[in-house]
Amino acid sequence: MYHKKIKITTIDEVMDARDMKYKNNCFDLVIDKSTLDSFLCGEHSFINVAIYLKEVQRILKVGGIFIIISYGKPDNRLNHLVCFNI
Ligand SMILES: C[S@@+](CC[C@H](N)C(=O)[O-])C[C@H]1O[C@@H](n2cnc3c(N)ncnc32)[C@H](O)[C@@H]1O
Repeated sequence: MYHKKIKITTIDEVMDARDMKYKNNCFDLVIDKSTLDSFLCGEHSFINVAIYLKEVQRILKVGGIFIIISYGKPDNRLNHLVCFNI
């Protein structure tokens, strides 16, 4: 079995996920727990999801990991990610 020790530092800040104040390529890991679901339930859902995912892609380092915890089936979520090669 392969074990790799990692140190996780979490950040607790409030901001619009479509316009985050972070610099480019600064996170190894982004976890979404139903934020994508929330956008998809609102008005202008597809455009908001696109803006949000572009922001996630911008702040993630190359090779970074994006974990989505969603109530939606993969078939209803993955199509949004494919557009951004995520
Ligand atoms: C279904 S709740 C999930 C909350 C939390 N992640 C959890 O699992 O308990 C969706 C969350 O997305 C947040 N949200 C909606 N639009 C947002 C936006 N533009 N920027 C940041 N968060 C947003 C809502 O405030 C809400 O807290």
